[in-house]
Amino acid sequence: MITINENYLKLQASYLFSNIAKRVTAFQEANPEKEIIRLGIGDVTRALPAACITAFHKAIDEMGADTSFRGYGPEQGYDFLREAIARNDFQARGAEINADEIFISDGAKCDTGNIQELFTQDIKVAIPDPVYPVYLDTNVMAGRTGNFSDGRYQGLVYLDSTKANNYVPALPTEDVDLIYLCFPNNPTGSTITKEELSQWVQYAKEKKALILFDAAYEAFIRDESLPHSIFEIDGAREVAIEFRSYSKSAGFTGTRCAYTVVPKECMAFDSKGNAQPLHPLWNRRHCTKFNGVSYPVQRAAEAIYSADGQAQTKELIASYMRNADLIRQEMAGLGYDFVGGKNAPYIWIDAKGDSWEFFDMLLNKAGVVCTPGAGFGKCGEGYIRLSAFNSYANVEKAMARLREMLK
Ligand code: MLT
Repeated sequence: MITINENYLKLQASYLFSNIAKRVTAFQEANPEKEIIRLGIGDVTRALPAACITAFHKAIDEMGADTSFRGYGPEQGYDFLREAIARNDFQARGAEINADEIFISDGAKCDTGNIQELFTQDIKVAIPDPVYPVYLDTNVMAGRTGNFSDGRYQGLVYLDSTKANNYVPALPTEDVDLIYLCFPNNPTGSTITKEELSQWVQYAKEKKALILFDAAYEAFIRDESLPHSIFEIDGAREVAIEFRSYSKSAGFTGTRCAYTVVPKECMAFDSKGNAQPLHPLWNRRHCTKFNGVSYPVQRAAEAIYSADGQAQTKELIASYMRNADLIRQEMAGLGYDFVGGKNAPYIWIDAKGDSWEFFDMLLNKAGVVCTPGAGFGKCGEGYIRLSAFNSYANVEKAMARLREMLK
């Protein structure tokens, strides 16, 4: 008899963004004449940078001739991209990361979800609340939690991120082994200082723990005193893995390219307490389960680091941040309390009530899609998240509808 992994039965209904998409589709079917403005899921709306398109076309032409065609590439990614990343994203900021510590993949969602396969089931996992649901759900699937009760899974350590701590969680009071951090944060848009991040690195060293640092939104940082990478912090190479993505920074949500950094000194421990490097384990996993990102996509990603690519992605990000500025200004004008939107494309707004109710009201009365904070965890109840990923004209229109609705 084939039996199932019953941990899947512990999961809450459907994945947050699928649930939202279903509600939006149902609304659109019932109101076909209504124009919907999407400020929900963080999906980009502008075209790929021209430099990426040129490189993409060129690489596709190479694939069209026997003399330049490429079959399977290296699972870890082509050197041309790994080297560009090491140089531009890390060494240029004083972070010591080498090309062979970088694993190219098709998304930070997959990598942050898959990485937990390297660890035993009985580790203590610390997860922020609110949080990007992938970290939580993949640990539930792996059996690291008990049942869901009163808005939380038993057996996890939740790191409350609230207004009281400026959305940067305090160090856990009990010992934990695996810590998820995301800064600039999804969903709150909050940021962490170098001093605060150093405390986490110190904690991880003392407790022989590991930090999984999701830096998918680092390109949106405008305050240059903030760290873009955990590897800007001394000692982080031993206790941290970092995830990056081109999805939001260069419009790759549909193109798919991201990477994970596993420094050679980064260790976890075997049952005898001996330190084991994680780099060969992740390499083994990657080579066994993944066949690499396509050659044209990696060439398109490499083009981000060209002079044109840098200028074009900078302009792309600035355009989304202009939307974030507008949302901040409008929400302040409407008397709402919020954070984020300064160094991140998300604005986390106190909805002054139930977050799903606010979501429904916004959709039904204004035709605007947001993400209800409760979908990101118990601490998200009472909040909504607005994303800056849309055109300026649509954000203006959405804000006008919001003003009208709240009158
Ligand atoms: C979000 O809206 O939180 C993100 O777009 C989801 C993702 O990147 O998978």
